Amino acid sequence: MTSAVVVKAPSSTANLGPGFDVFGLALDAFNDEVTLTKTKSGITITTEDNIPTDPEYNTAGLVVKNMKKKFNIKEGVEIKIKKGIPAGFGMGSSAASAAATAVAVDKLFRLKLDGNSLVEFAGSGEKASAGSVHYDNVAASVLGGFVIVKTNPLEVVRIEPPKDLRMCIAVPKINVPKRKTKVSRGVIPKKVRMVDNVLNLSNASTIVAGFIKKDSEMIGRSIRDVIVEPARQHMIPGFLKVKQNALKAGALGVTISGAGPSVIAFATRSSDLKKISSAISKGFASANTECKTIICKPSKGAVDMKQ
Ligand code: HSE
Repeated sequence: MTSAVVVKAPSSTANLGPGFDVFGLALDAFNDEVTLTKTKSGITITTEDNIPTDPEYNTAGLVVKNMKKKFNIKEGVEIKIKKGIPAGFGMGSSAASAAATAVAVDKLFRLKLDGNSLVEFAGSGEKASAGSVHYDNVAASVLGGFVIVKTNPLEVVRIEPPKDLRMCIAVPKINVPKRKTKVSRGVIPKKVRMVDNVLNLSNASTIVAGFIKKDSEMIGRSIRDVIVEPARQHMIPGFLKVKQNALKAGALGVTISGAGPSVIAFATRSSDLKKISSAISKGFASANTECKTIICKPSKGAVDMKQ
């Protein structure tokens, strides 16, 4: 009888420029780890990280609550959370805890759910921190690789990324607002010009084509967003300089990771990734901001550590 399950889920980047709320990519930059143990009743959360431990306000707690209710599970669950993903920086931190928990509940109670259902439950938990549900980060963190999220009804498509795709991430050391995702969604235009819509749609389409054709250069040069990025870039110190520097150093495309403030540059295995990272750091330094840079690859998604 399984009584404890340990699942690790990766960080992720949402949007990839023009795919706002639709595209996600799992990244092996950071991981969250969740251990679930069966108890007699109720839901308890233990963690050494600075996150809410009331299940109602914790992403993992909400996932367990929703899954227990849906499958009429009477037993209790203890949730142990170890956060490795910086929270509030556009790296899919809350989504990863939710993703790991949905996968762990599925294993612990042998529910044998499909990918779509796991993503749906993980998304229901993310509501705790994001305030609204969008499935781009959770889908990437659950399934790994590149994901396209179609909503109403939810349908998630996963595509295996090309083997030579690489990313340089920069997490700036700045204070982020408390409800950051809500704040950064508040600055997005409510209406868009048709000409901008056409440009974003064409770039989004060639991103998808690039993943299907396993063409990292096509993906990289399509990371171009004329709608959301211009509206959010003022929230990131030195963003334009960071982007310009990274492109000059050989990055194929540069944009905000999810709702920011992290920045992500797309490149290939044969790019000078260290040069790109240091160009990004210099860009942030020009705005008196330090940053942590990480060179990473796509991740395979949430994994059961005991399997
Ligand atoms: N697609 C979302 C956004 C991701 O950009 O607001 C953040 O959770």
